[in-house]
Amino acid sequence: MCGIVGYIGTKQAAPIILDGLSRLEYRGYDSAGMAVFDGKKIDIQKSAGRLKILENLTRGGESMPGVCGIGHTRWATHGAPSDANAHPHFNKAETIAVVHNGIIENYLQLRKKLTGKGYQFVSETDTEVLAHLLDYYYRGNPLETVTKVLHRVEGSYALGIMFADCPDQIFAARKDSPLIVGENEDGCFIASDVPAILKYTRKVYYVDNHEVVRLRADHMHFYTVDEEEIEKEAVTIDWDANAAEKAGYEHFMLKEMYEQPKTISDTLTPRVKGKDVVIEELNMTDDELREIKKLHIVACGSAYHAGMTGKYVLEGLARIPVEVDLASEFRYRDPILEEGAMVIVISQSGETADTLAALREAKSRGFRVLGIVNVVGSSIAREADNVMYTWAGPEIAVATTKAYSAQLIALYLLAMKLGKARGKISDKLFASLLTDLRRLPDQIELLLNNKLRIQKFANRYIGAKDIFFIGRGIDYAISLEGSLKLKEISYIHSEAYAAGELKHGTISLIEEGTLVAAVSTQPDLYAKTISNMVEVKARGAFVLAVTCEGNKEIEKAADYVIYIPETNPYFANSLAIIPLQLFGYYVAVGKGCDVDKPRNLAKSVTVE
Ligand code: G6P
Repeated sequence: MCGIVGYIGTKQAAPIILDGLSRLEYRGYDSAGMAVFDGKKIDIQKSAGRLKILENLTRGGESMPGVCGIGHTRWATHGAPSDANAHPHFNKAETIAVVHNGIIENYLQLRKKLTGKGYQFVSETDTEVLAHLLDYYYRGNPLETVTKVLHRVEGSYALGIMFADCPDQIFAARKDSPLIVGENEDGCFIASDVPAILKYTRKVYYVDNHEVVRLRADHMHFYTVDEEEIEKEAVTIDWDANAAEKAGYEHFMLKEMYEQPKTISDTLTPRVKGKDVVIEELNMTDDELREIKKLHIVACGSAYHAGMTGKYVLEGLARIPVEVDLASEFRYRDPILEEGAMVIVISQSGETADTLAALREAKSRGFRVLGIVNVVGSSIAREADNVMYTWAGPEIAVATTKAYSAQLIALYLLAMKLGKARGKISDKLFASLLTDLRRLPDQIELLLNNKLRIQKFANRYIGAKDIFFIGRGIDYAISLEGSLKLKEISYIHSEAYAAGELKHGTISLIEEGTLVAAVSTQPDLYAKTISNMVEVKARGAFVLAVTCEGNKEIEKAADYVIYIPETNPYFANSLAIIPLQLFGYYVAVGKGCDVDKPRNLAKSVTVE
């Protein structure tokens, strides 16, 4: 993970780098540092802990003069979060500084070789080998040195590099970790992601694998790793810069939850034409859609949970068998992909290392890959055969809410499109599904407006030790996401279980007063879930039920009920998840947790 930023131009670099890093903290936030050429030498300031410490250390960057620099915010992989392991890293003479996002896989071998040549290491990081290796090859030509080093390292990297004796240039390079460069009339920028430089420029270039960029104050040049110059096209970013601001909300997570009605409309509206669903990006005829024999959905984290709901909806509406895999499992299990299968990868960031690797695995075997992706121009978006964008805009809070909700919509649309093409959905059902989809934004608004009641309930569980979530079918998929939201931001242990499975062991953890949240939105399964609620209640659990309006029967088994408005059962996830997101949020707020940046996590997981 980690975020990198670089600037070279006519303005003071350090404040620009700090500002950029503050927008990349979602990529890691256990230490931060900057290297700036101060006119004579490269000055490095770095510190373990949040970016705030570096800001104080450098008085908002003021104490670091100079117009050329690189910075880094870290999510530790090799070596604990400490001052020494924080980036940038220097060579011994302190004339070459490096920031790195990714993993150098052959670093032990390189470290051994360099140690044998007398180099001494001051950190436990894999990155430090780059600083010494650059030093080892440097003969006065920085571009040649950078490319030489890149030929010798294995693994993934997005790099920012500066040389003290070439202070009029900085270098960037990329392999398998995200990297963009941008320019405006005052200078040129390096960043791991668009929000870092959106305030300064909308003109960016996506750096591809095995490319090197030499940035100067007034222009930049792109090269292959063999030093051949290449031409690249700029992309104009049309994001609203305010989208990455808190806009008066206490946390990004709350703001993003409130953006869900709009996100859903934005993902839905362009694909609903009159009485039909049109997914132009699919670029497949109805005949081709009919030929699909099986779908494999592959993703990580919440995107995987969206995929689990997708399985139920796609199988139910389109009658296509669907397998759902965690990307980290799929990529190494030699999956059986049979002729006629199509792979769907789901990813908010479009950069998750395991999901990207799964995509490549499927493509290398000749299978078509559809990406459901939020970040335009991300690696997955560029490598997938077809991309359905979820128009959620920038999501800053580490715990996803609006991007997850948009992923669900994309999957519903896909299921309807496939179901219709394959003759599995009648015109009547299709029309009623469309009506229900269009009602979702207003229904979500209603649920969000009920937040005070959920906040009050959440306050009772601030001291909880364990909280369980149960549900069947789609409700199980909802439970998984509800449980993840709660535990990742409140640090309360939580598990989600298929309601019928709890009694095969885990029920032994239920004690007097343990909270069990039972999700029950599927009318066919109401009675079954009630039986499971009764089982835990008999063992002392306090049962919170999330169910649909009209299911009064549930009040006999539940201690507290949250009703969601009526919708087609296939779409119930979009409504039931709202109170569960609010519940997790308010428990975490009540406990005083850092909601937007939970410990140990990062939003974009670019390591496997
Ligand atoms: C991280 C984030 C999760 C996210 C998962 C997959 O763990 O904290 O919120 O669901 O990565 O990320 P992606 O960007 O591929 O959706």
